[in-house]
Amino acid sequence: MKLKIKKRNNTMEIKKNIIITGGCGFIGSHIVENLAKKGNNVCVVDLWESIEIKDLKAKNKSVTFKKLNFNNFEEFEKIIKENDHLIHLAAILGTSETITTYDIEDVVRTNILGTTKILKLAKKYNYKKVLLPTTPDVTWLNPYKITKQAVERIAQLFNKEYDLNVTCLKLGNIYGPRERWLDAKLNAPFNYQKIIPSFIMDTLKNDEITIYGDGTQKSEYIYVDDVVESFERALNKKENMHTEVIHVGRGTNNSVIDIIEALEKVWNRKLNKNFVKMRPGEHKIEITLNPEPLKKHLDYELKWSLEEGLKKTIPYYEEQFRLSTKK
Ligand SMILES: NC(=O)c1ccc[n+]([C@@H]2O[C@H](COP(=O)([O-])OP(=O)(O)OC[C@H]3O[C@@H](n4cnc5c(N)ncnc54)[C@H](O)[C@@H]3O)[C@@H](O)[C@H]2O)c1
Repeated sequence: MKLKIKKRNNTMEIKKNIIITGGCGFIGSHIVENLAKKGNNVCVVDLWESIEIKDLKAKNKSVTFKKLNFNNFEEFEKIIKENDHLIHLAAILGTSETITTYDIEDVVRTNILGTTKILKLAKKYNYKKVLLPTTPDVTWLNPYKITKQAVERIAQLFNKEYDLNVTCLKLGNIYGPRERWLDAKLNAPFNYQKIIPSFIMDTLKNDEITIYGDGTQKSEYIYVDDVVESFERALNKKENMHTEVIHVGRGTNNSVIDIIEALEKVWNRKLNKNFVKMRPGEHKIEITLNPEPLKKHLDYELKWSLEEGLKKTIPYYEEQFRLSTKK
């Protein structure tokens, strides 16, 4: 295997060989772009090849793509052998969709069994670092949240008892360009409803936006660049962070109504609202993350305000809308 060495601040730095599963997805595509720009070798494993990864691969020889279901462990092991860092983003997402649309067994197989097998392979090949995104602790009963809570505990177990340097990053509600929406026609195998793309696309189509519940439920809305920075710092952190879970959050949340008002402010127009009952697998909650571990271990505080993040996000969807209406 070739070792790439890059000089930065007068120190010789050995470039990492990183596998990013789910690298064609929303968060993955941004992380791949950043880590490749920093000179690392990045191997993307996903079920589909996105336009962004195709373009990146053409421009940057250190990015490779393998179309593979990571549950095919025999093939996945061949890739694991060739690398030394892993960011395991691939999962089946969707809160109500993991009840209404996807099969619960598939969700459990991929999110829990598949991830456990991958952690075992990372241990077998002495991985230097493994990063795993998880979700805030909520009492919602849906297969996505349940499986994500389980893998967070399994990753902690691997760190504590199986001596694997694995860290979970607990993410709030991430938004930004490239996040898919329910009827996105981008050839991705999974699409699901996420609040910010849905509100933007429905408004562009001149539809009314659908609000589940009374709009007072709260979450932490995090612009994707803050996630990218947190993953880079976690990957470069030499020390083992043991069972500490790094929350990518700021400790303040926003309601759905706040999101609507922020969009109305950026667009300087009122949105058409339709309130309906909560979806299966969800009920009213308030999510707040703890920014302390991020500060303490990775010396980072989130930079992007909601308004600035939305301003960076909206043009992507305007372009997607324009492309979808082009004859
Ligand atoms: N987006 C958020 O708000 C958020 C919040 C908390 C945690 N997370 C976690 O971050 C990760 C990435 O989320 P995202 O928003 O980018 O999702 P995404 O759906 O855009 O990306 C996931 C990618 O994984 C791929 N994938 C799924 N099953 C696979 C398999 N068996 N083999 C290979 N590839 C497979 C999909 O094709 C997709 O490209 C997920 O693990 C998710 O649980 C996301």
